[in-house]
Amino acid sequence: MPGLRTEPSTGWTTRDSADLYDIEAWGEGYFRVAPATGHLTVHPTRADSPAIDLVEVVERLRGMGYRTPVVLRFGAILEDRLRRLHDAFATAIAEHEYRGEYRPLYPIKVNQQRGVVDELYSIGRRYGCGLEVGSKPELLAVMATARDPDRLVVCNGFKDADYIQAVVLASKLGRSIIPIIEKYSELELILEHSRRHGVKPRLGVRVKLARAGEGRWGDSGGARSKFGLFANELLEVYETLRRDGLEECLELVHCHPGSQVQDIRSIKDALNEIASIYVELARLGAGVRLLDVGGGLGVDYRGARANVDSSMNYSIEEYAADVVSRVASACEAGGVEVPTLLSESGRALVAHHSVLVFDVLGRSGRGRLEVDQTLDQLEREHEELPAPIHDLFGAHETLSPERLLESFHDAQQARQEAVQLFSLGYMSLELRGLADRLYWSLCARAREIAATWEDAPAELDELEAILGDVYFCNLSVFQSLPDAWAIGQLFPVMPIHRLDERPTVQAVLADLTCDSDGRIDRFPDADGTRGTLPVHEIERGGSYYLGAFLVGAYQETLGDLHNLFGDSHVAHIELDGSGGWSISEIVAGDTAADVLVYVGYSPERLHEALGHECAQWVEAGRITADESEALFGFYGDELAGYTYFEDGQQVDHPEEAVPEPATSRGDSRRSAARRSSRPIR
Ligand SMILES: Cc1ncc(COP(=O)(O)O)c(C=O)c1O
Repeated sequence: MPGLRTEPSTGWTTRDSADLYDIEAWGEGYFRVAPATGHLTVHPTRADSPAIDLVEVVERLRGMGYRTPVVLRFGAILEDRLRRLHDAFATAIAEHEYRGEYRPLYPIKVNQQRGVVDELYSIGRRYGCGLEVGSKPELLAVMATARDPDRLVVCNGFKDADYIQAVVLASKLGRSIIPIIEKYSELELILEHSRRHGVKPRLGVRVKLARAGEGRWGDSGGARSKFGLFANELLEVYETLRRDGLEECLELVHCHPGSQVQDIRSIKDALNEIASIYVELARLGAGVRLLDVGGGLGVDYRGARANVDSSMNYSIEEYAADVVSRVASACEAGGVEVPTLLSESGRALVAHHSVLVFDVLGRSGRGRLEVDQTLDQLEREHEELPAPIHDLFGAHETLSPERLLESFHDAQQARQEAVQLFSLGYMSLELRGLADRLYWSLCARAREIAATWEDAPAELDELEAILGDVYFCNLSVFQSLPDAWAIGQLFPVMPIHRLDERPTVQAVLADLTCDSDGRIDRFPDADGTRGTLPVHEIERGGSYYLGAFLVGAYQETLGDLHNLFGDSHVAHIELDGSGGWSISEIVAGDTAADVLVYVGYSPERLHEALGHECAQWVEAGRITADESEALFGFYGDELAGYTYFEDGQQVDHPEEAVPEPATSRGDSRRSAARRSSRPIR
C-alpha cells in the first residue's frame, strides 16, 4: 500500500514555493524568495528595496550567542507602513479637494515595546504622527518621552483622578494632550483638576455608535461597547460645558468601530454616523475641529482579500478614500468646516514589521503505514478476527475514486469500533495497532485520489490533519502567538529556507508547552484554511527554521508565561543606506531566573538552597565534590539561560532534543553560541 510521502520531484522552483505559501497575497511586497539561495528575504520598502536574507540574520545572531526563537523587527517596514497610510490619505485629500489635513495616531496598546513606540514616534515626525494611550501606565510612558508640542497625545480608557491629574500635568508641561470622555463622571474630574491647576481643558468625546462593527471585535464599537457616550449623554456633556462657557474646549469627536474590521461596509456605516455627530456638535457651537475615526483598519493575514476571518475586503487606499469622502460630504451638507482627520490605526501600522523565527526540534509521525499481512493470513493466525478488522480490509477493497467517501466513512466507523473493543478489553494491542495502520493507509490512498480532483469534498480536508506529522517547535504559542491560541487568529507561517526544494511533509506545529492546544493547526490558504503546513523533511544535525509573519500587532504584550516560557529575544534590523543591513539593537529574552522572579521565587535563594543541599550530600558521602560542583554550576547556568531550548537541532527522536547540560558557570548564552556552529542546510 502506498506510503504517506512522495519523493521530492525535480523541477521545483522558488516560484513554486512562493505560490504554495501564497507570499504575494499576504506579504504586501515585503517578503520574497531569493531564487539563488532558496531563502526568504525581507524587502522593507517593497518594490526597489534592498533584500535582507532572513537566514543570514539568524546566523549572525547565532554567532552573537542569540538562538531562536527570536522576533526580528524591521524598522524600515514601520516607516513604510506609516508612509503608505499617510500617502493614502494625502491622495484621498487631494482627490476630494478636502480642505483639512490627516494626522495618524499610533495606539500604543497594539505594541507598547519601547523600541516600537520610540521608532514610530521618531519616524512619525514628518507625518505629524501622534500617540493614543488607553491607560495610566501607557500615559506615564508617553508623557515623559513624546515631547513634541505639535503632536497630539489622545487619552482613552477608564480614567480615575490620578489618570486625569497626569493628563493635566502633561498639558502643563506643554504636551498637546486631549483626554477623551468615555463616561460623564470623567468630565467632572477633568474640569475639577483643570481648575485646580489653572489649565484650560482640552476635551474629546467618544461616541457609542448605534451599529456594532462586524468580526471578532465588533462589540468594541456599537451600543453594547464598554466605552463611549450615547447621543443623550453627548448632549449632556455639551450642555455642562456651555453652562461654564467652555464649549470651545470640546475639540475632538472620537469613535472606534472595532479592531480588524473585515468588511468595508462596517467602516462606511461608522463613518456616516460619526460624521453626522461631528456636524451636529459643530452646529450647536462646540469647538470641534478634530475627528478621530479610531482603529479597525484591518490586516490581510491570509491574503484572501475577502470579508472572511483574518482577512479584509478593502485596501488602505479605499479606507482612506471613504474616511475623507464621507466626512467631506457630511460637512458640506451640514455647512460646517471640515475637521483635521485622525485615525488610530494600530494593527495596520505594526503587524508587518515583526517576524518570529523559530526552529524545529524534532518530529513525530504516523510511522510505517504499510500493512504486510493479508486478510487470509490473519484469519489463519487468529481464531476469531474482530469485525472492525474485516471492515477495514473491506473498506480498502472498495476504495476507488467513485466510492471514496463511502470507503472513508466505513473506515472511520470501523476504526472507532476497534478503539472501543480495545478499551473494553476485547481486542489485543497488536490488532489495535493493525486497525490504526489499516485506517491510516486507507486515508493516505484516499488523499492521493482526492489530490487529483479539482473540487474535493470539504470533508476530505480532514485527511491532511489525520495524516500530518507533528513538528515540535522551539516556541510557546501562548507566549509568542497568543491570538493563534486564544481566538484562532491565522498567521502566515512558512519555512525561511530550502524554498528551492519541494516540501514533502504535511505537518502541524506543536510548541514546547505541555498543553495539547499549544499548537498551530490552521494555516491560511489561497482558498480558505488548511489543517497542515507543507514542510521539508528535517535533517539530522541540520537546522530547520520556520517564520511566523505579521506578528507585530498585539502578540507581544498579550503573551503569557505558560509553563514559564518567557519573552523571546528581539533583534532590531536596520537598512544601512548602502544596500546592506545591520543589527542595531538586541533585547535579550527572559532568562529562567527572570520568569521565576515573576512568579514569586528568588533565584539567588533557590541556588543557595541547592548549594547547601549539595554540601550536605558531599558530607554524607552520597555525591562527590566534583559532582556537587558540576550540579551547582549547571543549575546556575540554567538559571541564567534562555527559557527556550538553546541547543535546538533537528532530530527524529525526542530524547535527542534535550539540550546538553552546560557544565561550567558563566554566560550560558555565550556557551550556546560556541555550540551552535552547525550549517543551516
Ligand atoms: C480605542 C482604540 N483605538 C485604536 C485601537 C487599535 O485598533 P486597530 O489595531 O484595529 O487599528 C483600538 C483597539 O482595539 C482601540 O480600542
